Amino acid sequence: MKLLITGMAGFIGHAVAKRLSGQGHEIVGIDNLNAYYDVSLKQARLDDLAGCQDVRFLRLDLADRDAVAELFAKEGFDRVIHLAAQPGVRYSLENPHAYADANLIGHLNVLEGCRHGRVGHLVYASSSSVYGANDKVPFDTSDHVDHPISLYAATKKANELMAHTYSHLYELPTTGLRFFTVYGPWGRPDMAMFKFTRAILAGEPIQVFNHGDMSRDFTYIDDIVEGIVRILDVVPERRVVSSVDDQPDTSRAPYALYNIGHGSPVALMEFVRAVEQATGREAVCDFQPMQPGDVPRTWADTEALFEATGYRPKVGVQEGVRRFVEWYRGYYGD
Ligand SMILES: NC(=O)c1ccc[n+]([C@@H]2O[C@H](COP(=O)([O-])OP(=O)(O)OC[C@H]3O[C@@H](n4cnc5c(N)ncnc54)[C@H](O)[C@@H]3O)[C@@H](O)[C@H]2O)c1
Repeated sequence: MKLLITGMAGFIGHAVAKRLSGQGHEIVGIDNLNAYYDVSLKQARLDDLAGCQDVRFLRLDLADRDAVAELFAKEGFDRVIHLAAQPGVRYSLENPHAYADANLIGHLNVLEGCRHGRVGHLVYASSSSVYGANDKVPFDTSDHVDHPISLYAATKKANELMAHTYSHLYELPTTGLRFFTVYGPWGRPDMAMFKFTRAILAGEPIQVFNHGDMSRDFTYIDDIVEGIVRILDVVPERRVVSSVDDQPDTSRAPYALYNIGHGSPVALMEFVRAVEQATGREAVCDFQPMQPGDVPRTWADTEALFEATGYRPKVGVQEGVRRFVEWYRGYYGD
């Protein structure tokens, strides 16, 4: 198959490209290599893919409508894995327009490309942040998600709504994947895993929000990648459904939504302990109040993913953190 991966220089995009390389596909990856975080890390991920003969990279901004239309018309993709976005909850309070450009305009341009290019399946990244202020755990795709508490979350929810419209109107099969706090080698410098490791190794304090009273369903990168790759072959079809009123994840259109999370929440301080253990150093904690836009807990119900793919995320936090710290030390020579 000919595949497009958007955001291929990103944390998850790089890992997906690496996993799919050598499987008989032709892979085109795009990214605008923006400077939201260290561009040299994005470049290093692309360099890491340089030996993959079946992977081609093009620098392109998804907000550029004409360039995206031309890409789809010229290449003719069978399937699209759309991961490019402006991520980060906290940064969406500072620079909301970056989210409108990448996540709304960019997503629309991808949908239009898929529509006109008659793409067989669009798999795109949503986020656990769409669960917003929901109290009920574990979070399930059948829960209503109408109370986002950051613009980032609102754009991800908008992505799901836009995808549904295209599935309904143009028979475009779309699957949204709500990822839960992804971590692991080649991870993102704006996330806790990276920040904690860097600070602890440097003997600097780490900022611990909500005084440590938080939990996250930390999900190891390989589990996310396995979920994406398996879901790529689970193409949603039009269905006969008597009523969709009370079932936010059910539709007559060829449209699907899944959580990909480990399925077990980890207390933030337990996560800090895992980083201490992996680094062999003690953390100096700078306890801070809750950050605006943040949620106190996330926890994925992963039954639907299991039913669709036969897969359950496997890597526990001790092992995952150990692998990240090992990668970090090798990469930065610490
Ligand atoms: N990492 C997580 O914990 C997590 C959790 C939930 C959802 N997600 C979602 O998963 C996807 C991938 O996240 P990630 O962690 O790999 O982030 P990332 O920032 O490492 O990767 C995203 C890539 O997209 C590129 N990009 C951004 N705007 C673009 C544009 N307009 N045109 C082309 N390229 C553009 C960036 O340069 C970057 O390389 C995102 O959609 C993100 O919102 C990630």
